[in-house]
Amino acid sequence: MEKKQRENWGSRVGFLMAAAGSAVGLGNIWRFPYMAGDNGGSAFIIIYLAFALIIGISIMISEFAIGRRTELAAVGAYKSINKNFTFAGVLGVLSAFFIMGFYPVVGGWALAYVFKSFTGLLSNPAVIGDIFGGFITSSFEPVMWMLIFLAMNIAIVAKGIAGGIEKAGKILMPTLFVLLLLIAGRSVTLPGAGAGLDFLFKPDFSAVTGQTYLAALGQAFFSLSLGMGCMITYGSYLGKSENLPSNALIVTLMDTGVALLAGIAIFPALFAFGMEPAVGAGLVFVVVPQIFAAMGGIGTLFSAIFFVALTVAALTSSVSLLEVVTAYLIDQRGWERKKSVYTAGGIMVVTGILSSLSMGLMSGFTMFGVGVFDFFDILTDKIFLAIGGLLLAIFVGWFVDKKDLEDEITNGGTIKFGLFNVWYNTVKYVIPVAILIVAVMGIISIEQTSLMIFGLAVIGVLAIFSKKL
Ligand code: PHE
Repeated sequence: MEKKQRENWGSRVGFLMAAAGSAVGLGNIWRFPYMAGDNGGSAFIIIYLAFALIIGISIMISEFAIGRRTELAAVGAYKSINKNFTFAGVLGVLSAFFIMGFYPVVGGWALAYVFKSFTGLLSNPAVIGDIFGGFITSSFEPVMWMLIFLAMNIAIVAKGIAGGIEKAGKILMPTLFVLLLLIAGRSVTLPGAGAGLDFLFKPDFSAVTGQTYLAALGQAFFSLSLGMGCMITYGSYLGKSENLPSNALIVTLMDTGVALLAGIAIFPALFAFGMEPAVGAGLVFVVVPQIFAAMGGIGTLFSAIFFVALTVAALTSSVSLLEVVTAYLIDQRGWERKKSVYTAGGIMVVTGILSSLSMGLMSGFTMFGVGVFDFFDILTDKIFLAIGGLLLAIFVGWFVDKKDLEDEITNGGTIKFGLFNVWYNTVKYVIPVAILIVAVMGIISIEQTSLMIFGLAVIGVLAIFSKKL
């Protein structure tokens, strides 16, 4: 049978924008600032940067290499090299499903806040927190915005790789960057902004615990879209002449750059207005409008621009999550793209509704001690992605032929990668040990013990039944 030509990215820039679009998302602008705020600021940021720049880049090169080598998405890529690792790919598809269980909810909030910026949200700063609380705990409104956000995802992914995802990324990513620069510029020029910069950049390791390390590792994987086959999938559409290490470096630098920029946009202003950094997941939605409200008329515009940027960032990430599931159905089940997207999207409608309602109507319903939203969030961020990254490193370091890796990464010897051995040994030895230590330390000290046991059990079950997957 003749092999069908695989869909390819339209251009180098298109791929970079799509991969960076996947990486840069709510993880950078919504999650990174509040994680940094909750974990004491600078120390968390330093640990996060170390993980992103050492572990992150190495894993990203590995994912690109495996994806392009096999020309298959996560499950097929693992399976075609070593059947015993099929479950690692399936774990990735499951992670994508679970992240899509809560991600569109926050994407919907962002979309809603574009409009709320214009309709009185900023008129009374004292009640902005109450408005957010009232909004996310109500039943109809957030579900409606979530569904609109999800529909946008389905429409983009249904159009395929070059037509939909790539085009969206190419236009929306640069827009986002410019918007963030604008807001950061405003933030650092406020009187009293210095305290926020100190909080971000003056190291204070006194509050660091095992949890801080696990949080930073989970954040690095989440933010870089690693540990769940997303970059394997994107790599599978990558042309044979692309330079994998330099693409990974650029994507990682862009992603960490945007996270830091988001921090610089938020914390100086936050301190300038005398607010507390550790406000949790509501940080962006409660504090940012408050900051803008205090700016007067122009604040309305800034606020709307900010939430457009957040929505855009979320969208280019969530399409990559939907693509992971879609590509699995296309590659492994032989389905048509449209059927795959609509089926996966349909299930996400259900998980999204449950997740959104868990903030209010269904707040009494818990699984392993947490609501539906937290269930999806904690399970993926605190365990699945880290274990996914661990499995990938073990797979690449110990089960893939070193010569094949060198051949793939140097494009058959046509380009140089002077750090090949450094990269290889990092993946083979350093990363598995590092992730294992961080995961054990973190999982032991985490509050949600039964959820962690459940997560590990799921991975165990997948491993046992891997041959059937
Ligand atoms: N990296 C995305 C973000 O920061 C989220 C994501 C995780 C996307 C995993 C794809 C895969 O928002």
